[in-house]
Amino acid sequence: MTKMETIQFFSPGRVNIIGEHIDYNGGLVMPIAIAQGIKAEVQFRTDNIIEISSKQIAGTATFNLAKTKETAQKNNEWTDYVLGVIHYLQRENKAIDGCNIEISSNLPLGSGLSSSAALEVLIAYLLQYKQKNNIDLTELALFCQRVENEFVGVNCGIMDQFAVANGQKGKAMCLDCDTLDCQQIPFELGEYCLVLMNSKQPRELAGSAYNIRRAQCEQALAIIQEQQAVENLCAAQISDLEFLKDEVIYKRAKHVISEQQRVLQSVEALKQGNIPLLGKLLTASHISLDKDYEVSSEGLNLLVNTSIEQDICLGARLTGAGFGGCCIALVKKDAVNSFQEKIAEVYFERYRMYPDFYITNAEDGVRSL
Ligand code: GLA
Repeated sequence: MTKMETIQFFSPGRVNIIGEHIDYNGGLVMPIAIAQGIKAEVQFRTDNIIEISSKQIAGTATFNLAKTKETAQKNNEWTDYVLGVIHYLQRENKAIDGCNIEISSNLPLGSGLSSSAALEVLIAYLLQYKQKNNIDLTELALFCQRVENEFVGVNCGIMDQFAVANGQKGKAMCLDCDTLDCQQIPFELGEYCLVLMNSKQPRELAGSAYNIRRAQCEQALAIIQEQQAVENLCAAQISDLEFLKDEVIYKRAKHVISEQQRVLQSVEALKQGNIPLLGKLLTASHISLDKDYEVSSEGLNLLVNTSIEQDICLGARLTGAGFGGCCIALVKKDAVNSFQEKIAEVYFERYRMYPDFYITNAEDGVRSL
């Protein structure tokens, strides 16, 4: 028997620098793709079978392409992302081949680094690789968002899939989530670096609270639109908040409108190499997410507060949807060790466990290796 050729693929996680809970409000976000992600070793087969296994999670899933073309049944496992991608590719009449896929991940699952987007984009990319389907990365991101919204049933925006697909080494993406225009700008932090801290606290509320936040934003927009011609909540002005009489709706809209201003200022700060200003904006974003959008948690606040109490840190915030997961901090490169020691000590004192730390850079998006 001839040995089957193995092709390797990699799909990264993402960190959102700033612009949180903005994508589904049609505004500008600033994510990067990161070094951690999911790798796949793939052997294409000549039959109609896709077999997938993971080095981290036990079990193998087997899909018969003749069957998945007709129906696909979720079973609330990680393999739903794979099945969803297969079924939707077939629905769109994209030719795909049978293959054996073994994945391994160094991306912590469910920690706000988009492990699900990384998996969807990885599978959609590799399944179309051999066919040399013309893979437009933005189309790929939209496709994967559709799978997540409709098949998996999570009502996410476009940011994660877009960042995972379109990341570029050394660049942050300034993505307009309304038009999908994306400006890649140099992500250079001078004598500072980006430290990622995983609280290791699960994001239990994330799903339900996320949908509630979305609905509240829609309500805010509808009320403002009775008075002003704005296309989306990010296009509204701070002065439009006066139309919102309900305190909760007011606070949600205040976060969105002010966060959008912070993203615009962050883009300028980054272009001018004004990292101290970027740091201040990150912290302001966190405070807004905590007090107005109410998606932070005690653990995330502890990480952020312990970060910004240190002179060597310019600013910090939670990243991703919130309710647990990760924080980022801008920290002086030559003081990273003492920074981490301090955080670890305080966090351990409170939770009897250590957060995980990663020094993060902007990296390339999905690719074959
Ligand atoms: C999750 C969603 C994204 C985005 C962020 C919050 O990561 O998947 O679409 O809404 O939360 O900014």
